[in-house]
Amino acid sequence: MKIIRTKNYEEMSLEAAKIMAAQIVLKPDAVLGLATGSSPIGLYDNLVKWNENGDLDFSAIRSVNLDEYCGLDGKNDQSYRYFMDTHLFNRVNIDKANTNVPNGKAADYAAEGARYDELIASLGGIDMQLLGIGPDGHIGFNEPDEFFTKETHVVDLDPSTIEANARFFASADDVPRQAVTMGMGGIMGAKKVLLIASGASKKEILEKALFGPITPEVPASLLQLHPDLTVVCAVD
Ligand code: F6R
Repeated sequence: MKIIRTKNYEEMSLEAAKIMAAQIVLKPDAVLGLATGSSPIGLYDNLVKWNENGDLDFSAIRSVNLDEYCGLDGKNDQSYRYFMDTHLFNRVNIDKANTNVPNGKAADYAAEGARYDELIASLGGIDMQLLGIGPDGHIGFNEPDEFFTKETHVVDLDPSTIEANARFFASADDVPRQAVTMGMGGIMGAKKVLLIASGASKKEILEKALFGPITPEVPASLLQLHPDLTVVCAVD
């Protein structure tokens, strides 16, 4: 595990963006596992800037996102597809056909989970998975539980996750109660994992995840077993 401590959100975003940009330069058709939320916005802004400069080419990049809210389609401005389009995909020269987000409107979520895992396998697996960490230690939407779930699956969101994500909605009541998320197998199967975290509120959970017991009660703790984990944080 490599930990890069940074001073603030801007520095975290720059250092993490450099790591992702290096992946893109080294493998122009890399499969990037992408995340939404507040943490990666600055990172994406840097990638957009370097794409505009002509320093970074997304034309052959493939992507798979971690998760999507159940019941929201990509046109809904609270959906994670919409987030990705507005923060990254519409702003760089990526082929939208090569970008993938779980289908929040699937008629059969078990079938959607199987489809998503097969898709990841058919792409040859994920080269670099970007992660944020939730206040309860979730990654993707793998919430604290009695066991780790390997496959892409539907989860009931934890009350703390609903509360944390209410800031993006009119009220907590509007936050969907369920999401489809890549499972721990998909995340742990990535060749490299890049975890970013900023803000004092993430300090305790990050320490638990990286140095505490490996337990499904803190899903991110499983990352301790990943052979190529880089953490870029600004939590002091
Ligand atoms: C988002 C995701 C979540 C977030 C986490 C942290 O696709 O999978 O696990 O990374 O909830 O969110 P922020 O960055 O908003 O603190």
